[in-house]
Amino acid sequence: MLILGIESSCDETAAAVVADGKVIKSSVVYSQIAFHRPYGGVVPEIASRKHIEVIIQIIDQALKEAGLSLKEIDGVAVTQGPGLVGALLVGICVAKAISFALKRPLVAVNHLHAHLMAIFLEREVSFPFIGMVVSGGHTNLYLARDFFTIESLGQTLDDAAGEAFDKVAKMLNLPYPGGVSIEKLAQEGNPRAVSFPRPMQNSKDFNFSFSGLKTAVANFLRQLDTDQISRADIAASFQEAVVDTLIGKCLQATREFGLPRLVIAGGVAANKRLREKLLNQAAQEGIEVYFPSLHLCTDNAAMVAALGYHYLKANKLASYEFDAISRYPLCTFHPRPS
Ligand code: KG4
Ligand code: ZN
Repeated sequence: MLILGIESSCDETAAAVVADGKVIKSSVVYSQIAFHRPYGGVVPEIASRKHIEVIIQIIDQALKEAGLSLKEIDGVAVTQGPGLVGALLVGICVAKAISFALKRPLVAVNHLHAHLMAIFLEREVSFPFIGMVVSGGHTNLYLARDFFTIESLGQTLDDAAGEAFDKVAKMLNLPYPGGVSIEKLAQEGNPRAVSFPRPMQNSKDFNFSFSGLKTAVANFLRQLDTDQISRADIAASFQEAVVDTLIGKCLQATREFGLPRLVIAGGVAANKRLREKLLNQAAQEGIEVYFPSLHLCTDNAAMVAALGYHYLKANKLASYEFDAISRYPLCTFHPRPS
């Protein structure tokens, strides 16, 4: 079964063709980063306009790379939310039009759900598992019992981890997106140079908070004598604090639920220090950690098409009336009865 996936929730216009929820026939991602960089973050109006300009080309390219015509597609999957409403609507309108014109089934996918299950494009993971989605807008911990039964264990109470990376990068005059810039600069720095807080490490719940850490960096920079410490040391120390905080919570969840499997997803999961340190610490506790390849951590449409296959198989179809949902928590996600 060949599914065309469409993703336009933020600043990437993406289309992909995936066979049977497993084999990526093509995956095209058009990044708008260059257009948003001058503003230090994503400008919603620019995002929507760019999606409109390129989405048809991106879908054509995905079909071409897969060696397929539109008629050979068996179903269309699109991100319904969470994300920027104007941006989401572009993908949704195109997906509805293709589905209607070709009389192919349509499915509407939760973006967080797609991130969480992206790993299945590369590896099999036995259910149940603990999953963490860490991106620009979310830092969420889940217990996934099967593809459609997902419990929310905790989330950030303020900023997302990626958002903290982006904001601290701005303070350090590093270009957007901050995660990548901080990771690069941190390679030259000492992660123990500054002892930034590890927020909520002693709380028994599974929530996160990154706004205090961000403020701690701002205060540190304000008081700083610039010759004393390098920006690389600050970047490395901040990154280490985020990484330790994320690792602490997800290992705490694996212990509490007695589940030795951990799936890490979303843009921040591309962070090399997080990958390396978590793999190391988890191994000491006999926990297996699953990280998707870097191109499947950041936004892409292959994860949408792959999850779309499972929706279709379970007959969870969307009607043409569905709308974009800007805030769309996975915990309240209840698949429609078939
Ligand atoms: O999942 P994603 O591509 O888009 C959203 O759904 O938000 O995540 C984007 C976020 C941005 O905040 C970006 O700074 C962060 O992921 N990010 C990283 C890295 N690559 C992307 N953060 C830390 N290290 C990275 N290597
Ligand atoms: Zn995302």
